Amino acid sequence: MTAPVPVLELRNVTKTYKVPQGYFKPMATLTAVGGVSLTVARGEVHALVGESGSGKSTLAKMLLGLIPASSGEILIDGVPIAKTDRREVARRIQPVFQDPYSSLNPRKSVADLIALPLVAHGIGMPAERQAKVFEMLDAVGLPRRVIDAYPNQLSGGQRQRVAIARALIMRPDVLICDEPTSALDVSVQAQILNLLMDLKREFKLTYFFISHNLAVVEHLADRVAVMYLGRIVEERSRAGLFEAPRHPYSQALLDSVLTPDPELGMPEAGITGAFPNPIAPPPGCTFHPRCPRASDRCKVEVPKAAAVPDGFATCHLAA
Ligand SMILES: Nc1ncnc2c1ncn2[C@@H]1O[C@H](COP(=O)(O)OP(=O)(O)OP(=O)(O)O)[C@@H](O)[C@H]1O
Ligand SMILES: [Mg+2]
Repeated sequence: MTAPVPVLELRNVTKTYKVPQGYFKPMATLTAVGGVSLTVARGEVHALVGESGSGKSTLAKMLLGLIPASSGEILIDGVPIAKTDRREVARRIQPVFQDPYSSLNPRKSVADLIALPLVAHGIGMPAERQAKVFEMLDAVGLPRRVIDAYPNQLSGGQRQRVAIARALIMRPDVLICDEPTSALDVSVQAQILNLLMDLKREFKLTYFFISHNLAVVEHLADRVAVMYLGRIVEERSRAGLFEAPRHPYSQALLDSVLTPDPELGMPEAGITGAFPNPIAPPPGCTFHPRCPRASDRCKVEVPKAAAVPDGFATCHLAA
């Protein structure tokens, strides 16, 4: 029996940027994503966690086809994204971003906002479009009367529901959720997360779910990738990671969940030193300056992904 083709596959994907260093200085190369290989199976919730600046959103934008990879390959159902029509990518993979206010044009009504993908793809006559918009409003739990409202007349949670309705109207296979609830009031975060999980069943979706909230990830992810400075340091089943993390960075992150306020984001528990400058990453294992268990080998030799139960860890100690 052959394994089913993953809905998303990343093969050694990198993204580099040329960034100015100041007057009269040459441009520097910043590696935002440095050689990520991952597979996302159909129907799963694949979470991505990591500190601010680790490259999560850059990876999300490449998966959405919004920015090209510098090298490597991204495949949708086994077909390279670079060889797939942009509109076809947009039909199959849709985003839900952190801040629905900045992702929704304030001068458009809810009807226009939700129908936008249909218009862009030239689908349906106005009456059909309106019927689909109503269907989507029902699906995301918004009353039909908001159809003529504008974003500033809605609450944050309602705006995120509009953004989700728009993401779903083309019946995509995959939603890329980049911190979908972190801009919302704590009281509505759970409602939106529950809605996403209901919609996943109803629309048979696959989620690539970026979050800095490990409590949320533990609650809803099937698999989890931990990112550090543009690389995946550990990729495991949820149970594998949360019960016995193998990378010292993952261990430190999980320890920090036990701190009084997990809402504070990625904390420093157990990790000394600051997040390194991505223009001049440390040699060897890029985590070694902050790693409580680093040896001399870690300072010079880049670790390879080593198999651990239910996944891999990119650490000399895990091998
Ligand atoms: N267009 C760009 N030009 C130059 N550098 C960029 C660009 N976009 C992102 N970067 C850099 O790439 C790195 C990764 O950024 P990214 O936004 O992907 O991180 P992130 O993990 O999403 O962080 P956060 O949790 O704060 O959203 C950062 O060092 C960032 O400064
Ligand atoms: Mg981001």
